[in-house]
Amino acid sequence: MQGVFITIEGVEGSGKSTQLLRLSERLRRLDLPVMVSKEPGGTALGRELRRLLLERHGSGETWCPEAELLLFYADRAQHLEALIRPALAEGKIVLVDRFEDSTRAYQGASGVAESSMDRLNELVLRGLRPHLTLMLDMDPEASLQRVEVRNLALGAEFAETRFDEAELEFHRRVRNRFLAIAQNHPNRVALIPARDPADQVEAAIWQRVAPLLRSSGFGAD
Ligand SMILES: Nc1ncnc2c1ncn2[C@@H]1O[C@H](COP(=O)(O)OP(=O)(O)O)[C@@H](O)[C@H]1O
Ligand SMILES: [Mg+2]
Repeated sequence: MQGVFITIEGVEGSGKSTQLLRLSERLRRLDLPVMVSKEPGGTALGRELRRLLLERHGSGETWCPEAELLLFYADRAQHLEALIRPALAEGKIVLVDRFEDSTRAYQGASGVAESSMDRLNELVLRGLRPHLTLMLDMDPEASLQRVEVRNLALGAEFAETRFDEAELEFHRRVRNRFLAIAQNHPNRVALIPARDPADQVEAAIWQRVAPLLRSSGFGAD
């Protein structure tokens, strides 16, 4: 039995974590075998790398985009070997919060060449690709406002609570790269409007997931 591999992508604050939780709960209610994970940070190594990549590192040194890129692929290599491939081999429905498309969008927007990512993709993914990618799409101006509210609510010490114009511009480029990926991979990627209320987004996601599960032998209603 072959599992089903589903990724969720989109700019910060687009609702990925919210929707992945809702989807996983729905699948569990249906008694389906689910594994939920995220990048970076699905494994013990990944959690170390996530801390390096996402929390402020103390040295003040600026990391070159290639160094950062290799850390993301180190996380992905370990994640695939330790968790994703085994879970798929066991016939599970694997839900992952951010994957290859995030690298393409963010590192691409930071200036890394597509050809560099092609080569690392070949080394690390070896032809594996998600059966379905849920691409949550919305204007970063609105999504980052959600992040500001979320971070204030969490009282997060290191988290950003204000995004300046340069950051906003970066996130707009990221969004455009996500949109281009959706356009270039229409069979894999489902573009989901993410500005709607969470219940509506959840319904749009289920419309795409349910048929995939049925055709994969999971009998979801
Ligand atoms: N559809 C929605 N409408 C309004 N707020 C939302 C919606 N989805 C999520 N949120 C809120 O926005 C914030 C960011 O959502 P989150 O799921 O953490 O996004 P991401 O994981 O993509 O960064 C959270 O505080 C969440 O509760
Ligand atoms: Mg999240």
